[in-house]
Amino acid sequence: MAYKFALLGFCILSSLAASPAWAITDADIMNFALNLECLEATYYSTAVNGYGLNATSLGGGPQGVGGGKASLSPDLIKIATEVANDEIDHVGDLRAQLGAAAVPCPAIDIGSSFEAIANKALGITGFYPYNSDINFLLGAFLFEDVGVTAFYGAVPQITQKDNLQLLAGILPVEAYHAAILRTLLYNRGLEIVQPYNIRVFDFVQALSNLRGKVGNGKDQGIVTPPAGGQSTQYPFANLIPQDGKGIVFQRTPDEVLAIVYGGNSTQPGGFYPKGMTGIINGTLSSA
Ligand SMILES: *[C@@H]1O[C@H](CO)[C@@H](O)[C@H](O)[C@H]1NC(C)=O
Ligand SMILES: *[C@@H]1O[C@H](CO)[C@@H](O)[C@H](O)[C@H]1NC(C)=O
Ligand SMILES: *[C@@H]1O[C@H](CO)[C@@H](O)[C@H](O)[C@H]1NC(C)=O
Repeated sequence: MAYKFALLGFCILSSLAASPAWAITDADIMNFALNLECLEATYYSTAVNGYGLNATSLGGGPQGVGGGKASLSPDLIKIATEVANDEIDHVGDLRAQLGAAAVPCPAIDIGSSFEAIANKALGITGFYPYNSDINFLLGAFLFEDVGVTAFYGAVPQITQKDNLQLLAGILPVEAYHAAILRTLLYNRGLEIVQPYNIRVFDFVQALSNLRGKVGNGKDQGIVTPPAGGQSTQYPFANLIPQDGKGIVFQRTPDEVLAIVYGGNSTQPGGFYPKGMTGIINGTLSSA
């Protein structure tokens, strides 16, 4: 399976830069994780609080561009609030562990980036994650699984036990988040997303297909076999993306960047219009 190559992820990344002058350190990996947490914290906090990470109060970083308090049902607000608090804590946890080595959160686009990605996946225009429960879940689906697989991809590269313990503590929380999201989407799978007239199962599958396309084929939607063709019946669930042996699959930094940059790991864009901060950012100029 292609998955086994994920272990080489950080080596592949550095091999792209001819003889890099630096070696990847625990701090670099944790800063990469921090950048992912900045996106997640910004997405959920903006939705429930109306603002993202404040430079002073919520762990640092510019406000997300394009968001605003989301129109969500009271039930979903309660779930999103819990997740938002975890993500804000994760930004703080990583910052505390990194100390002076922590990078600032990057610029995050939580508005037009979603529209562009939904357009790429489904040919639709005007998709905005904050104007309904289902859109909010679909928007979060785009990055939640990426966080889980990125963290698992990073874990084997960590050398210090205390850093490993922190990442191993954050990883299952991200997996809980992804599982909550995938289950909520699965339960609404037969609904039609308006105004696009697209079934939820098919919408999710199209987003999954796009992630697979830009990320070396590694993605799994929420049903098996992949959605498409089932009309009124609930298909079998695939709520846990795993390798066939009950182990979650891994993504390399390159695969993560290709997805969150909106298509190309060396071209900042998508959720990170100015790229990630820290040296794992897709820039190959360090040699
Ligand atoms: C964060 O910033 C926003 C405006 O950018 C402000 O409305 C909000 O009160 C701030 N929150 C905290 C907790 O400082
Ligand atoms: C990404 O962008 C670089 C620089 O423009 C280009 O050389 C490369 O072919 C692109 N990769 C993909 C997968 O499109
Ligand atoms: C991006 O990474 C390169 C090394 O790969 C580094 O030289 C550069 O400073 C990084 N950019 C930011 C904004 O951190």
